Amino acid sequence: MAFRKSSALMLGAVGLWFVFTSVSAVKATAGQATTNDGVYSKAQADAAKPQFDTLCAGCHAFSVAALKQPQDLPLGDEPFLKKWEGRSLDELLTVIVLTMPNDGSAVINDAEALNLLAYVLQQNGFRAGAAPLTKAGAGAIMARPAK
Ligand code: HEC
Repeated sequence: MAFRKSSALMLGAVGLWFVFTSVSAVKATAGQATTNDGVYSKAQADAAKPQFDTLCAGCHAFSVAALKQPQDLPLGDEPFLKKWEGRSLDELLTVIVLTMPNDGSAVINDAEALNLLAYVLQQNGFRAGAAPLTKAGAGAIMARPAK
């Protein structure tokens, strides 16, 4: 009997802990910036366009219809948003810095990748904010552009 009582108490305690931790997890997610929160500046995106056109546009368009080669991935449109929704911008930056352009024709540093990603966000219809995208802001989560 005594054993039963204490295990019931234990279960209750675990249950309560669960409720508290899941509530705080929801709070943390709600406080997280997304790509709809103006995480880049227009000036930053505009300034990256020439570099994108030179280094990236040969293989990347912003819609499936505009792709030049079938093996290329669009950096916009449904497949891109579906794949990246809920993931942080940091992950995209890592792909750009470590693997792009994937023909070895150039090397992209962190600052350039941030600017290029700002341009990608702009082309996807995410609104610009007052400040440029920085490494600190790249924890923001990819969302779907607010209509
Ligand atoms: C020679 C063609 C080529 C060039 C140039 C190129 N890319 Fe890519 N990129 C690809 C291919 C192919 C993939 C998908 C497979 C892979 O990673 O190789 C890709 C994947 C990506 C992805 C991930 C997309 C996804 O949905 O997973 C990003 C982001 C990206 N490229 C950005 C860039 C940027 C920014 C530049 C310019 C600095 C660039 N790429 C230049 C061919 C290219």
